[in-house]
Amino acid sequence: MDGLKVALESRQLVVLTLSTTAVIAAGLAYLKWRRPRTVNRQYVPVGHVSKIYVHPVKSCRGLEVGEAEVTKLGLRLEGVMDRHLLILYKDRFLDGRTEPRVVLISPQCAGDGQVRLEAPGMDPLTLPKPNKQKVYDISMFELDGDGVDCGPEAAAWLEQFLGKPGYRLVMSAPGSKKRHTDQHPKYKDIAKPDDKVGFQHETALMLASEASLSDLNNKLDTPVAMRNFRPNIVVSGCEPFQEDNWQYVRIGEVEIRRMLPCNRCLMTTVDPETGMKNGTQEPLKTLRSYRLTKDEKYKAVFGQSPLFGLTCGVEQEGVIHIGDTVYVCT
Ligand SMILES: *[C@@H]1O[C@H](CO)[C@@H](O)[C@H](O)[C@H]1NC(C)=O
Repeated sequence: MDGLKVALESRQLVVLTLSTTAVIAAGLAYLKWRRPRTVNRQYVPVGHVSKIYVHPVKSCRGLEVGEAEVTKLGLRLEGVMDRHLLILYKDRFLDGRTEPRVVLISPQCAGDGQVRLEAPGMDPLTLPKPNKQKVYDISMFELDGDGVDCGPEAAAWLEQFLGKPGYRLVMSAPGSKKRHTDQHPKYKDIAKPDDKVGFQHETALMLASEASLSDLNNKLDTPVAMRNFRPNIVVSGCEPFQEDNWQYVRIGEVEIRRMLPCNRCLMTTVDPETGMKNGTQEPLKTLRSYRLTKDEKYKAVFGQSPLFGLTCGVEQEGVIHIGDTVYVCT
């Protein structure tokens, strides 16, 4: 009798174990199936989007806008990508550190994805569609891509404004070779294979906070503007430099992934309204007095370059607007 009971019990046990396993497996499969596109991260609200900037031409003035699309390749406004146009001087990329007056060039969206160049004392120029014949290899900040020549009118316009020959404008067009963030030594263990950019430094987005700017301005004789730092997305409502600890940022349907703190260069010393470098290297000098990395791992990477804002990649694309609530995951 006992033997039969034991046999029955062990059979029941097997059935019970199998059915429990089946239920758990089905449950896991269901959870995996219904998991939202954004992974379950613990987000808390920290503030709001206070500014959005799109810079159609690298180093030139950005457009402050009410909304923009966030794409894997950076912000897009009316079909115009952030920093997918680049000025070359003698076939090499030019940036605002070597020719600070470029910040006075104010590119506008001219509809249908086209860009119109404007600058003080210049007739506006709507860029013709890029000429596919001439493609430049662009090696910039250790990342290689290419750019299609925007033609002789754009070159002549730049030469007239900047006062010497040797300029070209190139575009990272939809078919152009993009620059891969993970090929940069600084980002090779951080970026994902689909983190690619046009002519942004290395990452699709740069994010900063109003509080960090105020904190810095409290230490300066003359305040600087957010434009000195050229971010894409600015957050209000958080504490100064709280963004240092954000791992993910969610704004509406958009999800942004932090890569590194943004280490700053002399470009921040160019006055965005006058196009002149600050004689005493402010705000960089003051920033350096309290914003050098304390992380041993990054001392060699950032050196004497102080940190302000975050460089980020895009996990989930979508549209962001001024006033949207910003959620973060630390
Ligand atoms: C440089 O920045 C400092 C500090 O903000 C300011 O007091 C000074 O006037 C600036 N100099 C120039 C030439 O803009």
